[in-house]
Amino acid sequence: MRLVLLGPPGAGKGTLANLLRDHLKIQHISTGDILREEMKKESPLGKKTKTIVDRGALVPDDIVTKIIENKFSEDNLIHQGFLLDGFPRTKLQAEDLDKILNPLHKPLDCALYLDASRKIIIQRLTGRRVCRHCGAVYHIHNRLPKIEGKCDVCNGHLYQRPDDNEETIKTRLDVYIKSTAPIIEYYAQQKKLLKVDGDRDSEKVFEQFMKRINETQRSH
Ligand code: AP5
Repeated sequence: MRLVLLGPPGAGKGTLANLLRDHLKIQHISTGDILREEMKKESPLGKKTKTIVDRGALVPDDIVTKIIENKFSEDNLIHQGFLLDGFPRTKLQAEDLDKILNPLHKPLDCALYLDASRKIIIQRLTGRRVCRHCGAVYHIHNRLPKIEGKCDVCNGHLYQRPDDNEETIKTRLDVYIKSTAPIIEYYAQQKKLLKVDGDRDSEKVFEQFMKRINETQRSH
């Protein structure tokens, strides 16, 4: 399957993507994770994008589209299936994705839209902690590691993302409303949009999406 995952920051896209990846056996590609990895390595791309990401703005379209094109060609993902998380984020990125896929007769199957309320988003993001080594995600209230500050998976150090402070979260939400929300309509018009309420717990969200994906597949 070829899927994209849309939704405001903190809606739970990364958390859901891990469940879908394991269940559907497709690769999960997060542009946010790729950019953070480049920043950690201090590569030219990482250095160029760090200040943009840290202040909650969007990296230029041509840079992120190139990242996706490279990923597609490295791993033959267009044929094997993928779940894109955090891409597309602007109408131009959505159109560019169609321009890559449609000529190959491998169009997107569905756009999964995970919505969440502002209050929940702020609680989730201010309490999120991430493993610096493997990227596993925790929360100071609802997903605690067994040992404080240490990752259950690899024992790595847990940290708070620099863009997870209240002021930057508000910027990210504003950017989302202005630049990303319009692409929900883009996919609704293509009749590819599947929406689920992300305020609910992650297992429920996952079940709902699987139900909707299976219904869509049966109707084709
Ligand atoms: P990115 O990394 O994509 O950040 P985001 O979209 O802001 O999303 P988050 O990762 O913050 O949240 P999430 O929805 O994945 O939530 P999570 O599952 O972790 O992008 C970062 C930056 O990179 C951007 O600001 C931009 O600068 C740049 N960028 C990336 N892609 C770009 C693009 N295409 N174009 C331009 N720039 C780009 O969950 C959050 C917390 O809540 C966790 O603690 C989790 O445990 C908890 N939680 C999750 N689900 C639930 C639930 N159902 N119930 C209770 N708790 C939950």
